Amino acid sequence: MAKTLRRLFTVLAATVAAVGLMTTAPASAETSSDTGVSPFIVGGSRVSTSTYPWVVYLATSTGGQFCGGTLVKANKVVTAAHCVSGRSASSTRVVHGRDDKQSTAGTVATVSRIWVHPSYRTASSGYDVAVLTLGTNINSTYLPLATPSDTALYAAGTSARIYGWGTTSSGGSASRYLLGATVPVTSDSTCRTAYSNYSPTSMVCAGYPQGGTDTCQGDSGGPLVAGGKLIGATSFGRGCALAGYPGVYARIASYYSVITAQL
Ligand code: ARG
Repeated sequence: MAKTLRRLFTVLAATVAAVGLMTTAPASAETSSDTGVSPFIVGGSRVSTSTYPWVVYLATSTGGQFCGGTLVKANKVVTAAHCVSGRSASSTRVVHGRDDKQSTAGTVATVSRIWVHPSYRTASSGYDVAVLTLGTNINSTYLPLATPSDTALYAAGTSARIYGWGTTSSGGSASRYLLGATVPVTSDSTCRTAYSNYSPTSMVCAGYPQGGTDTCQGDSGGPLVAGGKLIGATSFGRGCALAGYPGVYARIASYYSVITAQL
């Protein structure tokens, strides 16, 4: 019995150690105190929904923010499939025009329908895109979708913007305010080096080679914007803002026709 217990504790200790390794940033990772930049998204700054009115967040019926999204029509929001797969529309809300999650600014819309890409299985296998239909129209400007002709927006080095209310470090706590940052689009080969499951048709990566700026947990589903268009939806990454591991986004141009069919 004592031996069994000791074995159990050994296994537990090893698990705790492994989880610790997974969530702890390496000593080489830049911290906000190194850079003098406040730790927003990771490495960004506060921005307002009055400037970017199409950035929305997804919340539970009790108001808890769990993902981001982009308003692409008065009653349509593009988000990540992994944010809403298995959720009921009736338990989901879309919050528009609220920079501060602790305020009551803006509007809370109900969701009447959730479409998840039929080929979606897990974020890291692609097709990580979904469309929510809202119960009420939101009067706001919308962000156009990147189309299959927008290949230039996906060229390596294109300056793109990320937005969200997610965590400001891997495993950290979520941001109270909307944050935004700029990241360059990464080449397919760089992304493939980082992620063996990278699909250049389904995904696009963005981030600096040295890391430091990235989306993080809770930013999923939110926009990656370039050239005034929605080019990506935040999908996954190894940790957040790690050197050599850019953020991975669902490649919106690849899903242009299936998304448009839902609008
Ligand atoms: N999967 C995360 C979410 O659900 C997004 C992670 C993005 N990670 C990254 N390193 N860019 O919110």
